[in-house]
Amino acid sequence: MAENDKTATLTFDGKDIELPVHSPTVGPDVLDIGKLYGQGGVFTFDPGFTSTAACASTITYIDGEKGELLHRGYPIDQLAEKSHYLEVCYLLLYGELPTADQLEDFENRVTSHTMLHEQMQFFFRGFRRDAHPMAIMVGVVGAMSAFYHDSTDISDPWQREVASIRLVAKMPTIAAWAYKYHIGQPFVYPRNDLDYASNFLRMCFAVPAEDYEVNPILSRAMDRIFTLHADHEQNASTSTVRLASSSGANPFACIAAGIACLWGPAHGGANQAALEMLREIGTPDRIPEFIERAKDKDDPFRLMGFGHRVYKNFDPRAKVMKQSADEVLELLGIDNNPTLQVAKELEEIATHDDYFVEKKLYPNVDFYSGIILDAMGFPTSMFTPIFALARTVGWISQWKEQLSDPAHKIGRPRQLYTGATFRDYVEVENR
Ligand code: SDX
Repeated sequence: MAENDKTATLTFDGKDIELPVHSPTVGPDVLDIGKLYGQGGVFTFDPGFTSTAACASTITYIDGEKGELLHRGYPIDQLAEKSHYLEVCYLLLYGELPTADQLEDFENRVTSHTMLHEQMQFFFRGFRRDAHPMAIMVGVVGAMSAFYHDSTDISDPWQREVASIRLVAKMPTIAAWAYKYHIGQPFVYPRNDLDYASNFLRMCFAVPAEDYEVNPILSRAMDRIFTLHADHEQNASTSTVRLASSSGANPFACIAAGIACLWGPAHGGANQAALEMLREIGTPDRIPEFIERAKDKDDPFRLMGFGHRVYKNFDPRAKVMKQSADEVLELLGIDNNPTLQVAKELEEIATHDDYFVEKKLYPNVDFYSGIILDAMGFPTSMFTPIFALARTVGWISQWKEQLSDPAHKIGRPRQLYTGATFRDYVEVENR
C-alpha cells in the first residue's frame, strides 16, 4: 500500500487517538485500527464486515459503483472475451499475463496433474448416491491432505507451488466424478490431449459405451464461465480460506473450508437457487407475485441472483454471462428457452421497480449462469460445484498472497459481549 503521512483522529472518552491512514493504488483509504484497543481500550464493531478491510491485496479490485472488476488490473470483460481460463489462472497466481512459453509450461503442468490418486475414488463410494455433489467435494478435497503429504508444508514455497497446481488441475476431475457418482455412471478419466474446459465436459458427459466429441461452443462457454468465477476480492469463501490459512492449516483443508462456505445460498449456492426460483416462477405473468414477496419484510424470500454486497450497479460478470446465455442458447437452437424469457422479463421488471432501484439490487453473476449450465445439460446440483471448481484458483492465489506476507498472523476477531456477567454456580437442588 502507498505509504503516506495521513492520519485520522478518533476522539472518544475525552481522548484523541491518532490512527494511521493507508492509501490504495485505487479505491478508498483505510484507517489502520491495529493499535486502537491498546491505545483506547475499545474495539470497532462491524459484524458483516461492511466497512472493514481485512487485508492488503494486489489480486482483484472491484468498484461497486462503476460495476468494474479487475484481475491484476485487467478488466473482466476483456479477459472473458480475449483470454481463457488457464491464462487467467496464471495471471491470478503469478501477477502478470504469461509469455507464450510461460503459458505452455503452465498448461502442461496443470494438464499432467489432472488425475487423482487411484485410491481416492473409494472416497466417493462412501457417499449415498443422492449426496449433494458439494458434500462430496468438501470431503474429497479435504481428504487430499491424506494423499499428497509432499505438498502440505506451507513453510516450503515449492510445496505451496505443487499444492497450487494440484488443486487447479484436480478440481475438474473431483467435480466431474462427484457428478458421475451422483448419476450412477462410471468415472471418466481426464485426457491430456484436451483443453481444460473440454476435459471437464468430457469427464462429465462421456460414457464408456460410445465416443464423445466435445462441442466447441459448449467448451468455449464453459471456459468463459470458469473465467467469470475465478476470483472476487475478499468474499465470504475467500475470507474463510484466508482465516483457515492463518492458523497454518494445510492448503487442502483451507480450500475444503472455502468450498463449505461457498455452498450457502447467499453466496455460491445462489446459482442453484436462482435457476430453481426461475423455474418456480415458470411464466412471466407470475413475476409480480414473486417481486412482491421479495419486497415483503415478513417473507424470508429473496430474489435469488439479485443483489450484492459490493456491486451497487450491474455486476459486470452478469453482463457477460447474459450475452453468453443468448449466444449459447441460440447456437444450441434453444433460444426460445422459457426460463431465459422469464429471467429477462424479471430483470426488466425488477431493475425498474422502486424497491430494487432504491436498494440498488441488480442481477449478479449467479442470475444467468444457471441458464447456461442448464442448457449444457448440468443438473442444478452441479452449479455450485462448478463455481467451486472455477474459484479454486482465486482461493489459492489469495492463500499464497497471505502466506507470502511476513507480517501475517492468525486471524482472531474480538466481540461485543452482551451475555451474563460473573455469577457463581448454583447446585441443581437450589435452582
Ligand atoms: C455471490 O461477495 C462476493 O463477491 C460474492 C460473489 C463472488 O463472486 O464471490 O459475488 C458471489 O455470492 C453473489 C451473490 C449471490 N447471492 C444471491 O444472489 C442471494 C440473493 N442476494 C441476497 O442474499 C443479498 O443481496 C446478498 C447476500 C448477495 C448481499 O447481501 P448484503 O450486502 O448483506 O445486503 P443486505 O442483505 O443487507 O440487503 C440490503 C437490503 C435489505 O433490505 P433492508 O433490510 O435494508 O430493508 O436489500 C434487501 C435486503 O432485504 N435485499 C434483497 C435482496 N438482496 C438484498 N431483497 C430482495 N431480494 C434480494 N435478492
